[in-house]
Amino acid sequence: MAGKRVPKDPAPVNAPSDQPIPAQPSPRAKDAPRTMKDLREAREGRRAPRTKAPENVLREGLRLEKVPDQCILVLFGATGDLAHRKVVPALFQLWRTNLLPHEFAIVGIGRRPYADEAFRAELRASLDAFSRVLPIEAAVWEAFGERITYHRGDFGDQALYDGLSARLDELDAQRGTAGNRLYYLATQPSAFAQIIDGLGRAGLDHEHHGGGWRRIVIEKPFGRDLGSAIRLNREVGKVFREAQVYRIDHYLGKETVRNILVFRFGNGIFEPIWHRRYVDHVQITVAESIGVEKRGSFYEEAGASRDFLQNHLMQLLSLVAMEPPATFDADALRDEKVKVLRAMEPMAPADVAAAIVRGQYGPGWVAGEPAAGYRQEAEVDPESETETYIAARLFVDDWRWAGVPFYLRAGKRLPKRATEIAIQFKQVPHALFKESNADPEANLLALRIQPDEGILLRFAAKVPGLGVDVRSVNMDFTYGSAFSVDSPDAYETLILDALLGDASLFTRADEVEKAWGIVTPIIEAWADQPAPAFPDYAAGSWGPEAADALLARDGRRWRRI
Ligand code: BG6
Repeated sequence: MAGKRVPKDPAPVNAPSDQPIPAQPSPRAKDAPRTMKDLREAREGRRAPRTKAPENVLREGLRLEKVPDQCILVLFGATGDLAHRKVVPALFQLWRTNLLPHEFAIVGIGRRPYADEAFRAELRASLDAFSRVLPIEAAVWEAFGERITYHRGDFGDQALYDGLSARLDELDAQRGTAGNRLYYLATQPSAFAQIIDGLGRAGLDHEHHGGGWRRIVIEKPFGRDLGSAIRLNREVGKVFREAQVYRIDHYLGKETVRNILVFRFGNGIFEPIWHRRYVDHVQITVAESIGVEKRGSFYEEAGASRDFLQNHLMQLLSLVAMEPPATFDADALRDEKVKVLRAMEPMAPADVAAAIVRGQYGPGWVAGEPAAGYRQEAEVDPESETETYIAARLFVDDWRWAGVPFYLRAGKRLPKRATEIAIQFKQVPHALFKESNADPEANLLALRIQPDEGILLRFAAKVPGLGVDVRSVNMDFTYGSAFSVDSPDAYETLILDALLGDASLFTRADEVEKAWGIVTPIIEAWADQPAPAFPDYAAGSWGPEAADALLARDGRRWRRI
């Protein structure tokens, strides 16, 4: 969200008490194909195939926020980047705004040895770098920091979990945390199954042990294809009930993404036209100006299909296309989202080339600065076939959307950071103003997810004057100016929801599998195609020409953002 600033919200009353994620052994076979290039070569028989697959005012009268039960948050991967940049700053922000209970403790878990004090000092330094609100108030930090302790151990060593069990019982007694525990897996995905197994063996999942609830938050990526996601779900299911599991896609915690539901179902006038009778097509864009930064090796194994299509883009599509749920509870909502994914046929290999475009950035210029090509980035194969851009033309084959294309695109090193959903309505059935100097464009509704969060409606208006000239004009709502408050970071929203036991904004097992069911055939089809002619777009451009051609074939073009 926005940069650092002086807090606008009321003074906190909770006053007076970095580094890489530790590498964990990967359960994947050594010779298993990891990158797109490996996979294609394996298909061509040039590489041994994988033997075993892995895994102001408008705010007046708002409701008072709920405060979660007393509890301990157990943070696996506590010395890692995600914990330092996102999880702990979000917890601190919740604490300073009194959204965490007084009886609260954090136990950080990692492989490296740390004294509690040294661990706290590192977290404190990360808050200076990553907190949404600065400066950090000393008294608030003191009260928050004294609730943090560190527990060392190897994720593969059962002694870690047995020791943890005793430690958590002690903390319950000291802190009055009542046996409630939220386990947060902010580790490398290869460690997820191991940690879940360890927790299970130590009985740390049992809700009846000493009372209290036990929940687990699992970060993305959840699996790397359909098979591994199913296997991981099975491992999770051996230990935790689905109701205890919170799979994160941080896009769902973004304020404007949550507003999609309010916009659609809190207003009476849009829902009737949210339909193939009126909608020509939908465009969803997730553009990033950054490259892969320091995550070259992660990205080599992920690519835009896994990093964006399977999760963020599919989530946005589901929220746009879903039917109104009967109630606002987690399962009713997620049932409707899953129905959307079910209505999307997995693509046959022969159809992939016509409906999906992949691209990779070469050297170029972004915001006036020279930018290296993907193949020149650190930890990237100089002949990499991994895609940094993806565009897709998908259909939701149900009563509401049959025949309406959903065009999705996401890419790194595009000209700017912008996430937007555009609902393009049909032209009027009869062009009454064809004599006019300028034909108006069809209506358009753009939901700007970030930055410059807001909603824009384009409609035709008469140009003042004696003739009848018609032009398109925009009605524009921006969050910043309408509400004059900062939005919470997505992690604040999601962590608070997990602590409150509300899973609405988390991905359910069947949902994650359905999304992989759509993306996996695409990745597999690519592996059977010849090596792509990468790089095919310059850093700082709007992606490969093939992406424009994808829409041009349908007589459409990408909206200029
Ligand atoms: C992550 C992806 O899920 O989302 C990153 O792994 C991406 O590649 C990030 O940069 C974007 O998140 P946001 O909140 O900055 O839009």
